[in-house]
Amino acid sequence: MTSKEIRKSFVEFFEEKNHKFIRSSSVVPSDDPTLLFTNAGMNQFKPIFLDQIVPEDPRAVNSQKCIRVSGKHNDLEEVGVDTFHHTFFEMLGNWSFGDYYKKEAIQWAWELFTERWELDKERLWATVYKDDDEAFNLWLEVTDIKPERVIRCGKKDNFWEMGDTGPCGPCSEIHFYIGDDLEKQHASGVNNSDMYWELWNLVFIQNNRIEDGSLIELPAKHVDTGAGLERIAAVMQGKDSNYDTDLFQPIILAIQEKAKSDYKINPIPHRVIADHIRMLCFSIADGALPSNEGRGYVLRRILRRASRFGRSLGLEEPFMFELVQVLVETMGDNFPEINEKKNHIEKVIRAEENSFNDTLDRGLNHFEKIINQEDIVNINGEDAFKLYDTYGFPFDL
Ligand code: GLY
Repeated sequence: MTSKEIRKSFVEFFEEKNHKFIRSSSVVPSDDPTLLFTNAGMNQFKPIFLDQIVPEDPRAVNSQKCIRVSGKHNDLEEVGVDTFHHTFFEMLGNWSFGDYYKKEAIQWAWELFTERWELDKERLWATVYKDDDEAFNLWLEVTDIKPERVIRCGKKDNFWEMGDTGPCGPCSEIHFYIGDDLEKQHASGVNNSDMYWELWNLVFIQNNRIEDGSLIELPAKHVDTGAGLERIAAVMQGKDSNYDTDLFQPIILAIQEKAKSDYKINPIPHRVIADHIRMLCFSIADGALPSNEGRGYVLRRILRRASRFGRSLGLEEPFMFELVQVLVETMGDNFPEINEKKNHIEKVIRAEENSFNDTLDRGLNHFEKIINQEDIVNINGEDAFKLYDTYGFPFDL
């Protein structure tokens, strides 16, 4: 299945089960000071979980644009180094607002994976929160998963929270083994080895974490699920890297063409740039702009990181703005905002690339001066800070 077909099939599956399709909200949250970026599908439903508004429908489904580069969920250091973390990704999700709970959430997730999408049951594992006997028993009662494949895990992996405060609860995850040899699977690999990918997280929202750190019980119990489209596309397209799916390949091909480089020989820069251009396009389309503080500074850092990796491929002139068109062709059908704002996104990215190149060139001159001083062995802290602060050198550079 193509990624478009997977997205459509997910939504249709839950529409058949009386869920209402809700459009993805903006990646720039308009009214939640606890978040710099939308980091999960449930963010737009937070007021419903907190009993502040009554939903029009008790069930919802969507594909949410998410960004995880700050706060509690921050995957930036992994991005590009591994093959499955992203700054920007899409989260497929189904929700129950005080309607169905654990039983249906587990049953339907298994039905979609194993019957509709025919994922190999011999590769699937389920985890539950250590004290959640109800979820543990439901896996055995309402699915045909082998009992030894349901494992209990601690708070770190199986108690989901959107941030320091907010709705939260125990969760149950479905993991997929990507190795060649099925006999090599072992429960101890789940959550510990890159050979097991978390594909879907079923969160049973029943608490609210408040500012003093304590948990309070919510008036109703809800379901909030999140399945990363990029990982599911990789599994369903038989790839062992998200970057080999139809979501990323057009961008990677365009980078190779520009840089006359080879993704297979030097994958990390291609992955970083392909990931970061998606984050930049979607956040600029939703109203963010690079700047020196807060959200804007995150955009600036992401652009500089991509630009630096571009230089490592020999791309010294602005090049990222030209990738916007490729992304529009890949995702513009489902997210018309990137199509509508294409010219604006290109202009912003190009201007920012130009200004970073100027800063970097000045910084490199300064760097040359420092290292040409006699007897230099290490750059001292003051000079290193100046390169970072005044000349905008990313830390890794
Ligand atoms: N809200 C579920 C997740 O982000 O995994």
